[in-house]
Amino acid sequence: MTQSMNLRLFFFIFTLTVIPITRSSSSDDYQPYIVLMDKSMMPSPFSNHHNWYTSLLSSLTDEEPAKHLYTYNHVMDGFSAVLTKSQLERLEKMSGHLATFEDQLGQLHTTHTPKFLGLKKHAGLWPISGFGEDMIIGILDTGIWPESESFHDKGMSEIPSRWRGACEAENFCNKKLIGARSFSQGMKHLKENISTTDDYDSPRDFEGHGTHTSSTAAGNRVQSADYFGYAKGTATGIAPKARLAMYKVLFLDNSYDAAASDTLAGMDQAIEDGVDLMSLSLGFDETRFYQNPIAIGAFAAMEKGIFVSCSAGNAGPHPYTMLNGAPWITTVGAGTIDRDFVAYVTPGDQKYGILIGKSIFPQNLLVERVPIYYGYGNKSKEACDDGSLDPKDVQGKYIFCDGMSQTELETSGAAGAIFISESDDSKFLQPIDFNLPYVVLEPKVGHRLKNYIINTKNASISVKYGETLLDVKPAPQVADFSSRGPATRSPWILKPDLLAPGVNILAAWAPNRASAPIGDDYLLSDYKLVSGTSMASPHVVGIASLLKSTHRDWSPAAIRSAMMTTADILDNNRSIIMDMTFGEPGTPLDYGAGHVNPNKAMDPGLIYDIKPQDYINYLCAINYTRHQIQIISKQSEIDCSNATLDLNYPSFMLVLNNTNTTRSTFQRVLTNVGTSSSSYRAVVDTPPTGMNIVVKPSVISFEGKYSTAKFEVIVDVDITDAPPAVYGYFGNCGYLSWFEVNGTHVVRSPIVSAIASARPP
Ligand SMILES: *[C@@H]1O[C@H](CO)[C@@H](O)[C@H](O)[C@H]1NC(C)=O
Ligand SMILES: *[C@@H]1O[C@H](CO)[C@@H](O)[C@H](O)[C@H]1NC(C)=O
Ligand SMILES: *[C@@H]1O[C@H](CO)[C@@H](O)[C@H](O)[C@H]1NC(C)=O
Ligand SMILES: *[C@@H]1O[C@H](CO)[C@@H](O)[C@H](O)[C@H]1NC(C)=O
Ligand SMILES: *[C@@H]1O[C@H](CO)[C@@H](O)[C@H](O)[C@H]1NC(C)=O
Ligand SMILES: *[C@@H]1O[C@H](CO)[C@@H](O)[C@H](O)[C@H]1NC(C)=O
Ligand SMILES: *[C@@H]1O[C@H](CO)[C@@H](O)[C@H](O)[C@H]1NC(C)=O
Ligand SMILES: *[C@@H]1O[C@H](CO)[C@@H](O)[C@H](O)[C@H]1NC(C)=O
Ligand SMILES: *[C@@H]1O[C@H](CO)[C@@H](O)[C@H](O)[C@H]1NC(C)=O
Repeated sequence: MTQSMNLRLFFFIFTLTVIPITRSSSSDDYQPYIVLMDKSMMPSPFSNHHNWYTSLLSSLTDEEPAKHLYTYNHVMDGFSAVLTKSQLERLEKMSGHLATFEDQLGQLHTTHTPKFLGLKKHAGLWPISGFGEDMIIGILDTGIWPESESFHDKGMSEIPSRWRGACEAENFCNKKLIGARSFSQGMKHLKENISTTDDYDSPRDFEGHGTHTSSTAAGNRVQSADYFGYAKGTATGIAPKARLAMYKVLFLDNSYDAAASDTLAGMDQAIEDGVDLMSLSLGFDETRFYQNPIAIGAFAAMEKGIFVSCSAGNAGPHPYTMLNGAPWITTVGAGTIDRDFVAYVTPGDQKYGILIGKSIFPQNLLVERVPIYYGYGNKSKEACDDGSLDPKDVQGKYIFCDGMSQTELETSGAAGAIFISESDDSKFLQPIDFNLPYVVLEPKVGHRLKNYIINTKNASISVKYGETLLDVKPAPQVADFSSRGPATRSPWILKPDLLAPGVNILAAWAPNRASAPIGDDYLLSDYKLVSGTSMASPHVVGIASLLKSTHRDWSPAAIRSAMMTTADILDNNRSIIMDMTFGEPGTPLDYGAGHVNPNKAMDPGLIYDIKPQDYINYLCAINYTRHQIQIISKQSEIDCSNATLDLNYPSFMLVLNNTNTTRSTFQRVLTNVGTSSSSYRAVVDTPPTGMNIVVKPSVISFEGKYSTAKFEVIVDVDITDAPPAVYGYFGNCGYLSWFEVNGTHVVRSPIVSAIASARPP
C-alpha cells in the first residue's frame, strides 16, 4: 500500500506566501519512502529493530543500494529509506511490513506581547511558574541563530540532568539553548540540493523564521530591542527561563521545504531527547491523520505527556482552511495586538488636518512637501496596476492609489505611495509589504486625502514615519489570514482551539542578511516584525510551559483545557473579538475558545481531561480501520468497543449535513483542579436563535482535588428560520459556562454548529 504524505509548510512574512507544491525533480524510480513495520514480527536473532531494518534493506540488492535514512522509535515503528520501485515491491512483501508512504515534499508556511497577555514580573503566572524554569521546549523550524542576544544564558541554572539531547554544531549551545539538531536526509533525496549560498545544512538558521519562533516562546530578556525605531522596549520570550531545543527540518532549495521523513525524524528525536513541549509553525496538507506526519508524531508525543501546539495555517479567511486539526494537537490561530505602527500624513492645505495611516517603513523619516500624483494613470486600468504608471509622471513623487498594488510602484520610480485599504467595511488593513515608504489609510481617511488631491493643483504632502501607538482598540482581532474552522478531517471537534498574538510580532531574527530594503540600501536587524499563525503557536507553547511548570501533573489535554475555558472572547473594548476581514464580530470558527489569557489559565478551577484511549475511541467513530488507527497509535490491539465522536473536549460542535435540524447529546466529565471542594452552576450565555441548549444536571459538585463530575448537554439546532450568516457555513454559537458557587472560577465552552455541506470543493 503506497500512500502519499503531502507537506505544506507555512511561512508568512508580511505578505502571505503560498508556494505551490512542486514534484521532486529526482528520479521517480529511486526515492525516499516512509515504511511502517510491525515490531512484534522481528525475528529473534536481531537484538534491536534498527538492526532488523538495516538488514532488510541490505538484502534488497539492485543497481542502486537501498539507502537507510532514519529509524523511528517513538513517532512510529519503522524507518525511512531511499528505494527503487522494485526494492519497494520486494520490501512490501516481507513479513512485518505494515504500510508505506511516499516521502513527498511540500512547502513552507517581543517586546510587547507578554504585557498584552497580562504577564507581570511580580504577580501571577510568571513568578509562580518561575518564568518556565526547567521546562524544555522543542521547536521544529528553519534552525536557530545561536548568537542572538535572546538566547544568552545569564541567570539560567544548570541544564536538567534528565536532558538527553545534544548540539550537532560546535559553540552553539549554552544553558538556554540546550539542543540543536538538523534533519535533511529526506530533503536531500527529494530535492537535488539544499542551497549552499542561502541556507546551511546544519542547525543554523539562515532564514530567521526559527530564530523568531524560538525567541517568541522562550527568549531571554534583552534590553532595548527594536526594529529600526519601532516597538522599542525590552524583548522577552513568553517563558524567559524555559530551555530551547531546535530541530531544523526546513531547508531552502527554491522555497522553504520540509520532507515528511525529516519532520518525523525531528519529532522522534525531540521525544527521545526529553522535551516537555513542542511547537511546529508548519503544516502538511490536511490529509487523513494516519497520512499526516505531524498528526502521527504529535500522537506519540501526547502519549508521553508532551504538549504539542501547531499553527493553524495562513489560508484564511475562508472556511475549512484549518491545518493541524488533529484533536490531540493544540491548534492556534493568529490575532492582532494593541499596538500599531503609524505614519502621519499632512496634506499641503492645512484645512485637511493630519491624517493617520499604518506604516512600518523602517526609517524614522520625515518627508516634507513632496508632490503627490493620483495614480489612475492609464484609465483603461485600475489605479496603480501594472503598466498604468508612466515613470515620467511619477518620478520622485508620491503616488496615491485606490488599491494596494505594489509591483508597479517599485518600477515606476515613485518616491513612495499612499493607499486606501481595500474594503470599505474593513477597519483593518490587509497584510502588505511595508519595506517601501508606504502608508495605508482607512477608506474614510483616504477619501479625505483623495478630495484634497483632486481639488488641488500641484498637490503635495508631508509624511512623518516611525511612530508606534499602544493601547490601540479594539484588540485582539482575528487576523484575516488566520485559517478558519471547521476542521476538514474531523469537523466534530471545534478548531482552532485558541487565538494568540500573530500580527507584527517583534522577535529575534537571523542578522546575516537584510530584512529591510530601502531603495538600494539594505538594513540589517537583529530583530524583526513578522506576522503569521507561525508567530501564534510559539506564544501558546510558551504559556503552556509556564502552566506545566506550575502544574507538573497536568496532561497536555488539561493544559489545553485550562487555556480554552479561561480564554477571552471579549476584546479590550469589551466587545466580542472582531474578525478583521469583515470588521464584524468573529465566531469560534475564527478564534476557537477565545484569546489565550495566561494568568486565568493558571487557575481554571475545572478541566476537561482526555486520555490516549479516548482519542482512539474518536478515531474508531470516524470509521478509521484498525490498521489506520494502528499507524497513529502504534498499538497492536485496537479496541473500538467504546467508539464515540463525543471526545471530552472543552468545546462542543454540531455538524449539519444537508439538514436544517440536528440534535446532539454530549456527555462530559469535569475534573476539579482546585484544592477545595466546590459546586458549579451551569449558565448558557447568549442562547442564539435556532439553538436550544439543555444542561443536566445544572449543578455539579466536587469533593476536593481531582474529584470528577459528569454532565450532559443536549443541543437542538434548527436553522430553517435562522439561515447561517457568514459565508453560508456558520450556523450558530452559544456558550456554556460553569460558575463556581461562592467562588470566582468560570469554566466556559463554546457550542457551535457548522454546515458540512457548505464545505468548498
Ligand atoms: C546541485 O549541486 C551540484 C553540485 O554543486 C550542481 O552541479 C547542480 O547543478 C545542482 N543542481 C541544482 C538543480 O541546482
Ligand atoms: C493603456 O493601456 C492599454 C492596455 O494595456 C494600452 O493598450 C494603451 O496603449 C495604454 N495607453 C496609454 C496612453 O499608455
Ligand atoms: C504647478 O507647478 C508648475 C510646475 O512646477 C508651475 O508652473 C505652476 O505654477 C504650479 N501651479 C500652482 C497653482 O502652484
Ligand atoms: C468601542 O465600543 C463602543 C461601544 O460598543 C463603540 O461604540 C466603539 O466604536 C468601540 N471603539 C472601537 C475603537 O471599536
Ligand atoms: C461510520 O460508519 C457508521 C456505520 O456505517 C455510520 O453510521 C457513521 O455515520 C459513520 N461515521 C462517520 C463519522 O462517517
Ligand atoms: C469501555 O467502556 C467501559 C465502560 O465504561 C470500560 O469499562 C472499558 O474499559 C472501556 N474500554 C475502552 C477500551 O475504553
Ligand atoms: C455528509 O454527508 C455526505 C453524504 O451523505 C457524506 O459523504 C459526508 O461524509 C458527510 N459529512 C460529514 C461531515 O458528516
Ligand atoms: C431548510 O430550510 C430552508 C428555508 O430556510 C428550506 O428552503 C429548505 O428546503 C430546508 N431544507 C431542508 C433539507 O429541509
Ligand atoms: C454559598 O454561600 C451561602 C451563604 O454563605 C451558603 O448558604 C451556601 O451553603 C454556600 N454554598 C456552597 C456550595 O458553598
